[in-house]
Amino acid sequence: MGLLQHDQVLLLLGAPGAGKGTQARFLAETLGVPHVASGDLLREHRERGTALGRAAQGYMDRGDLVPDDLVLDVIADRLDQPDATRGALLDGFPRTVAQAQALDARLDQRGGGVRMAVYIDVPTEALVDRLAGRWLCRGCQTSYHTEFNPPAVANACDVCGGELYQRPDDKREVVANRVAVYLSDTLPVIDRYASQGILHCVDGNRSIDAVQESLLEVVADPEPEAIAV
Ligand code: AP5
Ligand code: MG
Ligand code: ZN
Repeated sequence: MGLLQHDQVLLLLGAPGAGKGTQARFLAETLGVPHVASGDLLREHRERGTALGRAAQGYMDRGDLVPDDLVLDVIADRLDQPDATRGALLDGFPRTVAQAQALDARLDQRGGGVRMAVYIDVPTEALVDRLAGRWLCRGCQTSYHTEFNPPAVANACDVCGGELYQRPDDKREVVANRVAVYLSDTLPVIDRYASQGILHCVDGNRSIDAVQESLLEVVADPEPEAIAV
């Protein structure tokens, strides 16, 4: 689907556990662009033991945001890869107004911009259960859920056969901090795209398939007036 032009991005926004990663994999494939997830990229740095990964570690384990300059480096490196110049789907970025401004400046320089921001809306009460039951693939970071989206074979990834693990920041007390940080630092980013008239809101408190269907409708017909949150 040719929604995105050169150096245009689609943003998938939402609280921790809203289903960004789950939906992004399929949506990026539909749009024919790479799925660029700041959290996945930071976890890859940690796995590789890079200086950036080591610097990010403490923030991630506490559920705090990693400082903007580190995250911006990670995102810029990824968007500089040749496959991302035709457009990208961003998941989990931007998370602060400063990150949003830096993204705008970068895309502007290249004649692109944020084509659309989609907010997956899930009530706070549902987030803890989603994260407590989540299992992730060590190989490709696909998300599963013991109850809502189990893998076909226990403890193995449907996509790549990789081993499944639980994220250390999905512990209840860390999730509470992640949600608090989201409310204080990231809600203003969502308001920003609402006021620019490019925000679309999708009810994320439904089955994975129902949310996927709504996302497809939004990207197929992106022009209706955006809804404020
Ligand atoms: P990140 O990895 O981005 O985590 P997050 O935003 O907290 O979001 P999650 O990945 O936890 O949730 P998701 O929305 O992707 O949900 P998922 O699809 O997996 O960030 C981690 C950390 O990195 C941050 O805390 C921070 O330290 C750092 N960081 C990352 N980006 C940063 C940035 N830009 N700036 C600064 N720091 C940054 O689904 C969750 C579960 O629910 C799964 O089990 C899934 O199977 C299930 N599920 C999904 N959809 C449904 C549904 N419709 N119904 C039922 N279950 C569902
Ligand atoms: Mg995710
Ligand atoms: Zn996998």
